[in-house]
Amino acid sequence: MSFSAQETDPDTLPLPITVNSEFTLVEDVYEELFQLYSESDQSLWKHNHAVKQKEGMVEIEVENVKGHRPLQFTVMQNQSLLSKRGITGSVLWDSSIMLSNMFTLHQQFFGLNPAETKVLELGSGCGLLGITLASLVKQVILTDQYEMLPQLVKNIRRNLGDKSNTEVAELLWGDTISKDLRKEIVDWVVASDCVYHESLTGKLVKTLSDICQFSDTNKIQRFQETGVKATRTCFVLGQELRSDTVHLEFLTSLHEQFMVYRVPTSFILDDFQNGYCIYFGYLR
Ligand SMILES: C[S@@+](CC[C@H](N)C(=O)[O-])C[C@H]1O[C@@H](n2cnc3c(N)ncnc32)[C@H](O)[C@@H]1O
Repeated sequence: MSFSAQETDPDTLPLPITVNSEFTLVEDVYEELFQLYSESDQSLWKHNHAVKQKEGMVEIEVENVKGHRPLQFTVMQNQSLLSKRGITGSVLWDSSIMLSNMFTLHQQFFGLNPAETKVLELGSGCGLLGITLASLVKQVILTDQYEMLPQLVKNIRRNLGDKSNTEVAELLWGDTISKDLRKEIVDWVVASDCVYHESLTGKLVKTLSDICQFSDTNKIQRFQETGVKATRTCFVLGQELRSDTVHLEFLTSLHEQFMVYRVPTSFILDDFQNGYCIYFGYLR
């Protein structure tokens, strides 16, 4: 038996966070684009300022909540692979640092729980975001194109050891979701800097939608069978503002299927206040 996530009401699968008035509901995608690209001072945008893509190995420090030491990670990169068509994940991108800091500093707000929360990351690349989240939650599934997986696995082992609370899976956007991933129940789907080419935006949104749909359906089924409650599968996507046309295409597909909110700038470190944005949302 399968259940449609659309049939859910907020009591069956409540949201995992309180969407306060600081969150901007995206009602009109053109208005959103206008606010992001036309009303902002683009001379302040400093893309790629936080990453050092030419270095083979980079040390990353992620800010932590008061009273806890920052998280330290070492990430291996391979800039030479960037010249290959379709390969962008062999180096780190600013948004992964922005999101790693946001989730660590606001772990309580996002309800991240080391005993319960499960996260799936799309387009993990070098893996910084998934690796950071693995320090905060019960389990993380990091996914990417097949070619990126060896480097991803190396970075996970280097930072979290051979036996960690992570899984790695090939997940090509737009493809049919594998049998294993169809069975998953995840609390969050995250992605950092995955909106950059018009040929990919529709596929990315399809995969995001499929994962959320399967996960919510599995949660409802589990609730009906066992009484175990869960929250709605939600996404957090962070990206650099590069091309308004690619952004419009992405947001139009996203908005068709999801309730979409822009995360307030108060969640974002000063370094990433200009030229970046973060969205939160869930299936309509
Ligand atoms: C700009 S990189 C960002 C990598 C990483 N999330 C970060 O922020 O450092 C985009 C990522 O999306 C992945 N990607 C691109 N097209 C994809 C596709 N069709 N299916 C799955 N992943 C894809 C790339 O392999 C790459 O890892």
